[in-house]
Amino acid sequence: MKLNLLSIASLGAALVASEVYFEETFSAPESIKAWKKSETKDNIGSIKLSPGEWFSDEKNSIGLQISEDARFYNYAAELTKPFDSKNKDIVVQFSVKYEQQIDCGGAYLKLLPVGADLKKFDGDSPYTIMFGPDFCGSDSKIHAILNYNKENVQIKKTPTPVKDELTHLYTFWIKADKTFEIRLDNKTIKNGTIEDEWPVFPPKEIPDEDDKKPEDWEDSPTIDDPEDKKPEGYDDITEEIADPKAEKPSDWDDEMDGDWEAPMIPNPEYKGKWAAKKIPNPKYKGKWSPKNIPNPKYKSDDNLAIYNIGAIGIDVWTVKSGTIFDNILITDDIKYAESFAKKTFTEFVQKEIDAQKLLIEKEKKDEKEKEKLDQDKEALEQELDFDLDNDSKDTKESKDTKESKDTKDTKESKDTKESKDTKDTKESKDTKDTKESKDTKDTKESKDTKESKDTKDTEESNDEDDSKDEL
Ligand SMILES: *[C@@H]1O[C@H](CO)[C@@H](O)[C@H](O)[C@H]1NC(C)=O
Ligand SMILES: *[C@@H]1O[C@H](CO)[C@@H](O)[C@H](O)[C@H]1NC(C)=O
Ligand SMILES: *[C@@H]1O[C@H](CO)[C@@H](O)[C@H](O)[C@H]1NC(C)=O
Repeated sequence: MKLNLLSIASLGAALVASEVYFEETFSAPESIKAWKKSETKDNIGSIKLSPGEWFSDEKNSIGLQISEDARFYNYAAELTKPFDSKNKDIVVQFSVKYEQQIDCGGAYLKLLPVGADLKKFDGDSPYTIMFGPDFCGSDSKIHAILNYNKENVQIKKTPTPVKDELTHLYTFWIKADKTFEIRLDNKTIKNGTIEDEWPVFPPKEIPDEDDKKPEDWEDSPTIDDPEDKKPEGYDDITEEIADPKAEKPSDWDDEMDGDWEAPMIPNPEYKGKWAAKKIPNPKYKGKWSPKNIPNPKYKSDDNLAIYNIGAIGIDVWTVKSGTIFDNILITDDIKYAESFAKKTFTEFVQKEIDAQKLLIEKEKKDEKEKEKLDQDKEALEQELDFDLDNDSKDTKESKDTKESKDTKDTKESKDTKESKDTKDTKESKDTKDTKESKDTKDTKESKDTKESKDTKDTEESNDEDDSKDEL
């Protein structure tokens, strides 16, 4: 039995010893060995000890990390000693860091009954309590499932976890008086009685079927205003009238076509069916519903949420790996859990926020540096290109790809003119020059395709496109 002197001291006169059934901070390298891999599948993802890629404090932040993408994880560890929760509180507490920006993956724990075969632990294995966060797309919840009469019963309204890359602390406190609290980062986010929040028993009360709505029950919130009277002659205004503008066609033959009648058109005077103005009903009593009576089928059960717990299991699926479980605690004393949380979690909250801020700033800085490097590289390439052009006498005027074509044209026409006026020896030299310059151009052109685009962008001074190109 592990006595917690701190809680004994703090409780003073009422000497109550807290018991710890499982406590794991993963600070010892061999701690991971306690977690046995299930033999039910071949491809269960691997686990390791890691503080993650970033952390507040390397030693404290080391936890159990699930380290392969798109895998099932089935691992379980025995409690230090079995936990019979009769007349005791149960406190399950642990932290989770989803540093990988979770898209879909759970990070909940299952408490397994005494005698559970850990080698066969998988999603179908019976458990007593399942607790912890689960994210999938827009669906975020903290599971709080209690086994009752061999059924796994989820809390009626699951609390919502925080979706970020920071470590969060989850505490489920099931009290001996059958009330409970769920805490997130040491703040109570849900409390009440177990039987109110979990649909484990038939309802305590049901509507009385013999209760009937009284004849004189006024359930209409408004009535017709008795003062409002229909105006004289209102009903004489018809919905349609004969079109006064219509004229009998000149070729109308009364004998052949019958009596001519003007076509009907909507009456502009018509105001619809008359209805009295509505006023609030002074006798309104609200919506009627039958009164509740005790449910004869209701039956509570002292064994609700009393468990004999022997082990703790991880049975999750994840798309992206990286989730870190840490500071797992099973105890019967919330005070002990609070002091444990203070040592292992609260003291590191701000440090972790700072570490994350630093990381984000570093990433931003690295990105900026990379951007600058790319820009410098490009500038250098352009300069180099420019020098090359300057060195080559034949393309002396060429400043960029766009101009190189013109240069070549100019040179060619010059060469042509020259070749006409010169001897054979010079002609052969010029032919060689022309070929050379063409080769240079071909090589340069393929290399410069990107550059010429960049040059164009620069000319248009379109900075946005530039940075897009670099990306
Ligand atoms: C839940 O918390 C509220 C506010 O702290 C408290 O008034 C209430 O008694 C609690 N309910 C139970 C069942 O513990
Ligand atoms: C955690 O919450 C409890 C109860 O709300 C409080 O007494 C305790 O001081 C808190 N601990 C820390 C470290 O914030
Ligand atoms: C071309 O190179 C020469 C000699 O290296 C240099 O003096 C000249 O300034 C350069 N021309 C241009 C336009 O940079």
